[in-house]
Amino acid sequence: MNNQSRGFMIALEGVDGSGKSGLARQLAETLRGDGHSVLATHEPGGTEAGTALRKLVLASNAYDWTPTAELLLMNASRRQHIDKVILPALAAGQIVICDRFVGSTIAYQGAGRGLADRTILDLHRLAIEDFWPDLTLVLDIDPETALNRSKARLESAKIDEGRFEALDLAFHRRVRQSFLDQAATLPAAYRVIDANRPPEIVAREAADHVRRLLVGEGAR
Ligand code: TYD
Repeated sequence: MNNQSRGFMIALEGVDGSGKSGLARQLAETLRGDGHSVLATHEPGGTEAGTALRKLVLASNAYDWTPTAELLLMNASRRQHIDKVILPALAAGQIVICDRFVGSTIAYQGAGRGLADRTILDLHRLAIEDFWPDLTLVLDIDPETALNRSKARLESAKIDEGRFEALDLAFHRRVRQSFLDQAATLPAAYRVIDANRPPEIVAREAADHVRRLLVGEGAR
């Protein structure tokens, strides 16, 4: 499944607490200001069915899913999201900003949980028809700082989605390294942004990357 449409899809990736959600809001606002029609969405979730799956996977008292079962659930949520939300938006010429996508599956279920890249990519080909974002922005930050931020946010907002936050620092270090490895492997489609800086600087750099690609510089 190729993105042959007029739209453009941006995935935001990074460890928990790297600032993706704030960046998604800011980037959407900036691109709307540039005159684009923008749809901001997220995974797991993005549809009613996906939101139900999200609860099943992320609640701190969620079932004890095995890594492969977790991988299948992420893909089920993604397929529903693609069919119901992402492809229609792209077909209508919108810019889609998706907070997490297949890069998270490679990082969390692959590097984190230990499933082989081959398994994840084979399933991605089968279940998602090998659909990839036009651009993936990786917010790179020290996982310890980010994780503390994420736990504090979940706690203060009373959000019960801490299943991954509860995993040890070594898990989150593998996740961070996976995002960097993905970017090194696919430099045309990934950009790494140093997220240890103030949010407005990060947002400006992200918008610059997107604008450059939208005017046709760089590869798709
Ligand atoms: P998210 O809501 O982005 O959490 P945060 O705001 O803390 O970054 O994502 C929820 C969790 O889902 C996150 O810990 C990573 C995990 N996840 C996977 O393990 N695999 C996936 O394919 C996706 C999309 C998310």
